[in-house]
Amino acid sequence: MSHYRFPGEDALRRKWHTPENTLKSVGLRPGMVFMDIGCGYGFFTIPAAEQVGENGRVYAVDADAEAVEAVKRKAAEKGLRNIVVKAAEAEETIFCDACADMVFFSIVLHDFRDPAKVLSNAKRMIKPYGKLVNLDWKKKQMPYGPPLHIRFSVEHAQALIEQAGFRVESVREAGSNFYLVTAKP
Ligand SMILES: C[S@@+](CC[C@H](N)C(=O)[O-])C[C@H]1O[C@@H](n2cnc3c(N)ncnc32)[C@H](O)[C@@H]1O
Repeated sequence: MSHYRFPGEDALRRKWHTPENTLKSVGLRPGMVFMDIGCGYGFFTIPAAEQVGENGRVYAVDADAEAVEAVKRKAAEKGLRNIVVKAAEAEETIFCDACADMVFFSIVLHDFRDPAKVLSNAKRMIKPYGKLVNLDWKKKQMPYGPPLHIRFSVEHAQALIEQAGFRVESVREAGSNFYLVTAKP
């Protein structure tokens, strides 16, 4: 089993944005509770665990058991003991109530079977002053990433987030291929 979906995946993605800088830019700090929903192979999970440190905690979930095993192995190799990761559908996952400082979605909202349910779970898990972050591909033709027809436009993502009871706080570009939305409960 590999740590990645394809060789060199992390290096390619790091040309577009470094997870460490993205996480810092949205305000992740030591001691926080961070949730990585649809965490995949841990591109953000591992740097987030390093940034929140031993007084913080990362909860991560993905439907793909192989990806979850890869996250566990990466965490063990780095000696990170502050990650709770489970193989499950995000639609069926509540880690804890009003306990997350940040709920994070990276290139995943369009993948969920029921994005509205996943966002309503996020609303339940986030602290009253917490932050939701949604990073995703722009809905435009490009030689990589998911097909255009399954991508969510920034307007659609914003509408879904607001329908789940969040107030959109900021919308910005994250490199030329991605947008980043932050929202408060
Ligand atoms: C494009 S990957 C992004 C992974 C990760 N967020 C990242 O930035 O590397 C999308 C992930 O969503 C997961 N996924 C799809 N549907 C899901 C669901 N209903 N519940 C949990 N994870 C899901 C997939 O298994 C996959 O790992």
